[in-house]
Amino acid sequence: MLRGLLTTPSKSACGLLDIESLDRAEIEAILERARYFQPAPGETYRRLETLRGKMIVNLFFEASTRTRVSFEIAERRLGADTVSIAAQTSSVSKGESLVDTLNTLVAMRPDAIVMRHSASGAPHFLARHLQIPIINAGDGTHEHPTQALLDARTILDRGKSLEGLRVAIIGDIAHSRVARSNVHLLSRFGADIVLCGPPSLVPRELENLAPGVRLAYDMKEALRNADVIMMLRVQLERQHEAPMSAGEYFRFYGLRLEHLALAKSDVIVMHPGPINRGRELSSDVADSQRSVILNQVENGVAVRMAVLERILP
Ligand code: CP
Repeated sequence: MLRGLLTTPSKSACGLLDIESLDRAEIEAILERARYFQPAPGETYRRLETLRGKMIVNLFFEASTRTRVSFEIAERRLGADTVSIAAQTSSVSKGESLVDTLNTLVAMRPDAIVMRHSASGAPHFLARHLQIPIINAGDGTHEHPTQALLDARTILDRGKSLEGLRVAIIGDIAHSRVARSNVHLLSRFGADIVLCGPPSLVPRELENLAPGVRLAYDMKEALRNADVIMMLRVQLERQHEAPMSAGEYFRFYGLRLEHLALAKSDVIVMHPGPINRGRELSSDVADSQRSVILNQVENGVAVRMAVLERILP
């Protein structure tokens, strides 16, 4: 059973709500178990029976390709039965509230719910009221815990240590649940983290997010000696002011091949996806040897298998 905020205060159900409440040992255990689930080169994920007889509902109130599909694959590879629901095709579109939707689903007795929602804290709120494990698949601008875990697994796979790692996270930090979860995870291991982007997307208070975090508004400064460059999507759907044009953004904060020379020679380029070529990074970077973007996607399955196995023993 996972600890921290994973145990809901009022009920006995456990889930995965965020990285902030996980300790280092819990993170390490998930990452190590994910390694066990990774397929050998050229092979696919093994089909196991660990979760045979379990029913998992994947409830997505926001669009998703990577997270939704990889949760579903992870669940099926572990032998679970799954139902996936997109809010647009559910009774949410007829005005049903979040609580009523979740109570309706819980009445059908699934064993766990994987949920993505546009409101920060939505899974925490539900976990306090429902006697069922909730796995946060991304809540508003708050956290995306399984993304940070798969990112860490990808970094480790490249032979890098998280201790003392120099990570430049570049882009729309203000709206990024991926950045927040990664900052909480990497800071547990003493990483040196630079958050960089336009001042409107990198507010000063982010410096206080965790130990080891500093801010930069000049991309070249952020990239210097980086072990890992983590690019982020510009989340136009969460911005209320007129955004920079794609061209203007790319000029100042888009990652291009010549930038890589500023970082360590074995730097890796990450992006949680979906990527916007020509805004956040150039195609030649996205498709370069330094890019591990598809390795991140691949690791999404192994990490989510590890999380599901711990939550549903
Ligand atoms: N990284 C990520 O969350 O991607 P999706 O929005 O496609 O799930």
